[in-house]
Amino acid sequence: MKLLITGGAGYIGSHVVLAALEKGSKVTIFDNLSTGNKKNINKDCKFVNGSINSLSDLSSLFKKEKFDAVIHLAGKKAAGESMKNPLIYLENNIIGTINLIKSCIENGINILIFSSSASVYGEPKYLPLDEKHSLSPINYYGYTKLAIENHLKWFSDLIGFRYAALRYFNAAGYDLENRVLGLEKNPQNLIPIVMEVASLQRDALDIFGNDYKTKDGTGIRDYIHVTDLAKAHIDALDYLLKKQVSITVNLGVERGYSVLEIIEMVTKISGKKIEYNIVDRRKGDIDTIIADYSLANHLLGWVPENSNLKTIIESTWKVYA
Ligand SMILES: NC(=O)c1ccc[n+]([C@@H]2O[C@H](COP(=O)([O-])OP(=O)(O)OC[C@H]3O[C@@H](n4cnc5c(N)ncnc54)[C@H](O)[C@@H]3O)[C@@H](O)[C@H]2O)c1
Repeated sequence: MKLLITGGAGYIGSHVVLAALEKGSKVTIFDNLSTGNKKNINKDCKFVNGSINSLSDLSSLFKKEKFDAVIHLAGKKAAGESMKNPLIYLENNIIGTINLIKSCIENGINILIFSSSASVYGEPKYLPLDEKHSLSPINYYGYTKLAIENHLKWFSDLIGFRYAALRYFNAAGYDLENRVLGLEKNPQNLIPIVMEVASLQRDALDIFGNDYKTKDGTGIRDYIHVTDLAKAHIDALDYLLKKQVSITVNLGVERGYSVLEIIEMVTKISGKKIEYNIVDRRKGDIDTIIADYSLANHLLGWVPENSNLKTIIESTWKVYA
């Protein structure tokens, strides 16, 4: 199987690349390295430096190579930034992805695995969140993911383009065999920020509110180990190839940890004191987000195997220490 993986130099993409290579696929990584890391470019892959925002970059890529399927992870992922600079998200997440879908269709590729996000749901009306939950994103980032899911559904219904929209919850952890070593640039998510404090790259972290309706007042999120996440892409690809259908599934582990629990585990594993300040809540933050992943389990037979907090933090600390 010849795969194109966009965003394959990024945090999740580099782990998906490993899973694809382990399965015996030939992989081309297409990435503009805007947030990706050169260190993450797997030596067993072909690397093309280009942007999905550029139709000419895509056209020269597809002219030179033939692919059986595309795994699409390239994009911007910071919800807060998307509210301040929506044009960047329009450009990279919507226009770029539409360019890619168009290029796939024009080049006879009709299978795409798409990095969607739990942020398509918005404020939870019940927990755990299943795929039937209403879709009402509360930030522009979430809207960009939903917009692409909607386009994919139209193309699937109209011309049989097949897709898997994978709604990731919070990706965390690193490859257990230490094959991915690139750190996230300017991280906006909790675990890399706590790691930066533990490894003395920053003095302290801000905790945005400790008066949420949770056991210790801090926000609870569903952390999924990135290797479990990566495997789900390969499982989804197999499923699409076998069943000739499109699917949308949650990828989380139906269990959440609070900000303070993450800090406590990082302290325990790293032996470092984590300095933090409690500051005001951020607009749009939610108490608790937890996934129901029974559909992914039912359709793909997927089970998260590495997503306990200790494994997540240990594998991350190995990279940051
Ligand atoms: N990290 C999470 O918890 C999470 C949760 C839900 C969804 N996602 C989605 O998963 C995908 C990957 O996230 P990540 O955490 O690995 O982020 P990342 O920033 O590490 O990876 C994104 C990659 O895409 C590349 N890229 C960005 N814009 C591009 C463009 N226009 N053309 C070509 N390459 C481009 C970047 O250089 C980077 O290598 C994103 O689409 C993100 O929205 C991530």
